[in-house]
This record gives sequence, C-alpha cells and structure tokens, in this order.
Amino acid sequence: MKTIRFGIIGCGLMGREFASAAARWMHLTNTRARPEIVGVCDTQETLMGWFTTHLPSVTQTTTDFRELLANPDIDAIYCAVPHVLHADMYPQILAAGKHLLGEKPFGMDAGQNAKIMDAIAKHPDVLVRCSSEMPYFPGAQRVIDFVKSGAAGNILEVESAFLHSSDINPDKVINWKRMIDVNGEYGCMGDLGMHVCHVPLRLGWKPKTVHASLVKQVTTRPDGKGNTVPCETWDNATITGHVEAEGGNFPLVLKTWRIAPGESNTWSIRVLGMKGSAFFTTKSPRQWQFMHYEPGGRQTWQVEDLGYQSLFPAITGGIFEFGFADAIQQMWAAFVDELAGGNAQGFKCATPDEAQDHHQIMTAALASGKSGQVQTVAYS
Ligand SMILES: NC(=O)c1ccc[n+]([C@@H]2O[C@H](COP(=O)([O-])OP(=O)(O)OC[C@H]3O[C@@H](n4cnc5c(N)ncnc54)[C@H](O)[C@@H]3O)[C@@H](O)[C@H]2O)c1
Repeated sequence: MKTIRFGIIGCGLMGREFASAAARWMHLTNTRARPEIVGVCDTQETLMGWFTTHLPSVTQTTTDFRELLANPDIDAIYCAVPHVLHADMYPQILAAGKHLLGEKPFGMDAGQNAKIMDAIAKHPDVLVRCSSEMPYFPGAQRVIDFVKSGAAGNILEVESAFLHSSDINPDKVINWKRMIDVNGEYGCMGDLGMHVCHVPLRLGWKPKTVHASLVKQVTTRPDGKGNTVPCETWDNATITGHVEAEGGNFPLVLKTWRIAPGESNTWSIRVLGMKGSAFFTTKSPRQWQFMHYEPGGRQTWQVEDLGYQSLFPAITGGIFEFGFADAIQQMWAAFVDELAGGNAQGFKCATPDEAQDHHQIMTAALASGKSGQVQTVAYS
C-alpha cells in the first residue's frame, strides 16, 4: 500500500484529530494508501510532545512552518491554524509543492480567500481540498443519495444547520475564535459556514440572494488575566438564501449558531420536496429519516437505523454507531484516496471552488445582517 507522508501545521484541537485518525488507519479496510505523519509544527512547543510520544513516525518538530515545507520527505500538509494565518500559509505550502488539506474557512474573509485561490491557480500540480467532515456521516450520505436519485422531486425547502453552545457561558474566557482580527468579522459564519454550505453546494444549490439575521448576545468576555475585553464577533446567524432551480425556486436556510441552547455540536440537513423528504442529524448519528408520498397519499416519516455503513469500509460491525472521530477519518480517507489516484468513493472532500462560493455567501450574509437588506451573492 502506498504511503503518503504528512506534515501538520497547527497542533491544536484539529491537528490532534488528524493524528488520531492516521494512527488508527488499520480501522479502514481496503484503502489505496495510508498517511504517515513525519513532521509537526506549532508555535507552542509544548503541544508537539503529545505527537512525538504517540507517533514514532514523527522525525521533525519545529516552531517554523517553513522548515516543514523545506522537508523533502513530506508530500502533503494538513494546516489547522487560526483563520488569519490561512492566506499567508496556504500559498507558501503550495509553492513548496506540497498537497494540502487546509482547514476551513480557507482564508479569514473573501479577500484573503482570493489570495489562496490565486495561489491554487498557479499550482495545478498539487491537490488542494478543504476540511469539512460532517457529510461523511452515513446518514448524511443517504440524504445526498436520496436527492441525487430524484426522490425528493421539486424542492420546497432545504435547511442546513450547525448548532452548538460553546459560547453560551458569558464568563468563558475569550479565545481567538471570538476575536475579529484573528477569526474574521464573520464570527460564527467563518467558523461554521463551510459545514453548512458543503452539501448544498455539492448538490448544486447556490443561493442567488441571501438575507441574514445576526445575533450578538455576548459583547464582552473575560480575557483570563483579570480584564474584561470586547467580544465583537457574531454569535449566531440564520441565513435565508434564495435558490433558483428548474423545478421551482426555493429557500435554503443556513444556520450557524455558537449559542444554541441544548446543542453540544449538532450538524443537520433537511430536504423537503414535492415527492419525498429526507433528514439527518448528528444528534441521532445511527439513523436517517425519509418519506415518499404519492399525490393525495399519506406523508409518513420512516426512520432507518443505518449503523456503521461508511463510505470507506471499516472493521466496525455494521450495526454499531458512527461518530465524529469516524467522520474525520472518513474525510481523511477521501483525501488520501484522491492523492493515490482514486475518486474518493464518489464523494471527495470540499473543493477550493466550494470554499470560495461559501465565502461569497457569507460575505453577502454579513452585509445583509448589518444592513437588514437582501444581498445578491457575487460568485466569482
Ligand atoms: N473541521 C472541523 O470540524 C473543525 C473544528 C474546529 C476547528 N476547525 C478549524 O481548524 C483550524 C484550527 O482550529 P483549532 O480548533 O484546531 O484551533 P486551536 O487553537 O486548537 O489550534 C490551532 C493551533 O495553531 C497553532 N498556531 C498558531 N500560529 C501558528 C503558527 N504561526 N505556526 C504554527 N502553528 C501555529 C496554535 O498554537 C494552536 O496550537 C481553524 O481553521 C478552524 O476553523 C475545524
């Protein structure tokens, strides 16, 4: 089996998730290639010890990401750093000839995303994908297949949501995700926008216009040093897009909420159509819901336990649950499969074009939220 040698830039929350997924690659059966993490980089030196302790394959640790890029033994980079750094680092990664799985949102705002897109255009020889793992849940895949089969008929409404309550405690110390100069003015839309746009964009649903209601409840936070500092990023966004489709126009509702009472980390997709409807939520990770109806017939939801019917086959018995760490590993399997010449089982990771489209949607949503007006989305 082919080995693809990786370097990780950013050894925080998401850097560790990739390391864990790579370390249990034997979980997957029948993959074309496997990732091996050979180098890690973080400006916080202490974070790298966890990697060297658990991954004997790591031979390079550095606080300077350019040293990682100069390593000829590294084929590909996973970059999971704060948003303000994407536009500087991603082009340098590509210029070094490394393939890239970059964390969302692929630049802090549309302007910074444009710099990344320019660099991608200059380096067609490397594979670039954007991280977005939730569509790899088996239930999400069923909803996608349902729509692709035509079972929904003409669409009435689509709702794609990412709800969590990480910021509900106003006494939580501020971190970079709540700082405009590091996370971007989008706030919750930069954090969660790619998660809610990935499936709609993949299914060809690009809203022409959007209207956004933005919520700002927590305006200051402790800084952990005894001070109270401004917390300026948006907490929640509810965006209604207008999609023009052959079968009739419909609303696309996108929710990115960081203060969603009762939700720890819920991603969901619901498609309502004239012939059928389908729904998946990570709250019920083993199930999906669907219904088919004839004219004049009943509309009755059916609930199917899917278990672990993953896109990339795994050793876990089909009756068991699938979870977040599995979705991460399936996303990685898709990226590694593409690197090894495969088609990612027909569902490749989010593309740079999709990331760019999501920026245009969120840029229009931000303008709408501030002005109260419907905004046209300016796709590139
Ligand atoms: N796909 C997902 O589900 C998901 C979930 C959370 C975060 N993310 C994304 O992952 C990225 C990172 O988020 P996180 O939650 O892992 O953040 P984090 O703060 O836990 O980790 C970021 C790491 O980057 C390091 N860093 C900062 N500047 C650096 C530099 N110049 N060189 C090297 N390392 C540097 C920090 O020290 C930190 O350890 C963001 O783009 C975020 O949107 C994705």
